Amino acid sequence: MGKVFICDHPLIQHKLTYIRDEATKTKDFRELVDEVATLMAYEITRDIPLENIKVKTPVATADCRIISGRMLGLIPILRAGLGMVDGILKLIPAAKVGHIGLYRDPDTLQPVEYYVKLPTDVQERLLIVIDPMLATGGSANAAISVLKKRGCTQIKLMCLIAAPEGIQAVQTAHPDVDIYVAAIDDHLNDHGYIIPGLGDAGDRLFGTK
Ligand code: URA
Repeated sequence: MGKVFICDHPLIQHKLTYIRDEATKTKDFRELVDEVATLMAYEITRDIPLENIKVKTPVATADCRIISGRMLGLIPILRAGLGMVDGILKLIPAAKVGHIGLYRDPDTLQPVEYYVKLPTDVQERLLIVIDPMLATGGSANAAISVLKKRGCTQIKLMCLIAAPEGIQAVQTAHPDVDIYVAAIDDHLNDHGYIIPGLGDAGDRLFGTK
């Protein structure tokens, strides 16, 4: 069963409060999401392996550690996932970015891929799938399946807010995927919105409504 990590650092929780507030305007919303993404990147990379190297300081040789060859890939789910990419790249500038676009088939209600563009060496990378709102889990599950179909095996999921229903759906479909969230909310309403949530993350990020 995949683990769920709640990133409860006070800075993350403080900023999330303003992200939720309906009075927060697009510019501030975008900046806050970007900042929280940077802080969450710190948590999500906590277990990446290090290797030992020696470095000559001006006065001696020091035994130091650097991140070992493990390469990262960021996979935002369009479109709200885009809002967290730059914040993560501030900490991990060498990461490659792939994109997955999904829509819901009106007849089957199943997510369908309409855009997939991934780094050529995606199978070798530790991938962070990014979707700010983990609601039913349908999109996250479909995006993770897209990656697994292409041979990817190291996948984590990063969200701002999750509903219990979404967490359960991902844990059931992809028990190998750990989930990182800033908060777990109460439930989904009849329209699939997370309650209390923050509304529509894509609309609030891009000022569309
Ligand atoms: N997507 C959103 O943007 N908000 C929700 O509450 C659920 C899904």
